[in-house]
Amino acid sequence: MIVSGSTSQALAVALAAETGRELAPVSFEQFPDGERKVNVGEVDDHAIVVASTVSDGSHVELLQLQDAVRENGASEITTVIPYLGYARQDEAFETGDPVSVRAMARALSTGTDRVLTVNPHETAVCAFFDVPAEPVDAAARLAEPLESLTDPLFLAPDSGATELAETVRDAYGDGETDHFEKTRHSGTDVDIEPSDASVDGRDVVLVDDIVATGTTMSESIAVLNDRGAREITVTCIHPLLAANAHLKLARAGVEAIYGTDTIERPVSAVSVAPALAERL
Ligand code: R5P
Repeated sequence: MIVSGSTSQALAVALAAETGRELAPVSFEQFPDGERKVNVGEVDDHAIVVASTVSDGSHVELLQLQDAVRENGASEITTVIPYLGYARQDEAFETGDPVSVRAMARALSTGTDRVLTVNPHETAVCAFFDVPAEPVDAAARLAEPLESLTDPLFLAPDSGATELAETVRDAYGDGETDHFEKTRHSGTDVDIEPSDASVDGRDVVLVDDIVATGTTMSESIAVLNDRGAREITVTCIHPLLAANAHLKLARAGVEAIYGTDTIERPVSAVSVAPALAERL
């Protein structure tokens, strides 16, 4: 049975349809002091818990869901974490820092037999789980909403996203790839160093794993506009779109924004359910 967290309801429904499994009845409650409680109805032997950890509360909720299904008789638990929060804190960057994603992974390992997670920021984070954990690559699906593009360039805003850009280009079936160089000064301050690629009159598809504050993408869009790009599309696996990110991109002049349903937002045009179903 598919057991949905509050953050992944549309994806859980899509996954149930894709795999022919039933959806378990689940309810979510929050007490006046902020503490949470989930309740899960009858589940069968194998429970597939699906929940993106987009906030501290959703981490707690996922731990509760895992515990509730075990308490309710499931003997095998697979945890699907479409968006794994804290994945960008994958090392102690300064003395005294935690490896935050390792702490989260260890806690989540206690309640499951297996983990699947979609395009984690670095696939190496899977090794932090104490149970088998596999990354699922859904990047090719990002090509689905792209309509006819003029002389397309698939551009990564930093070298780390180059492989994603290549995958989307390959799935689209036409175009070049390139990447900018990014220097991050703080959570909301980045410098973008353009590449030599000519963008004049071309359609550019910016590809990244996460759009969080939108700073990386809006800075990239500004550079592309200065250089005469035709239409600029932003596409990403995880459309976190925190705070005013959507507005920032619109004001920067983006033509369209597409993301997947690992995080459920109005721009979640693509479902990762088929990629997950294949792996399940
Ligand atoms: C970081 O390396 C990630 O790949 C993204 O580029 C980053 O999370 C985007 O963050 P923001 O939207 O806040 O610039």
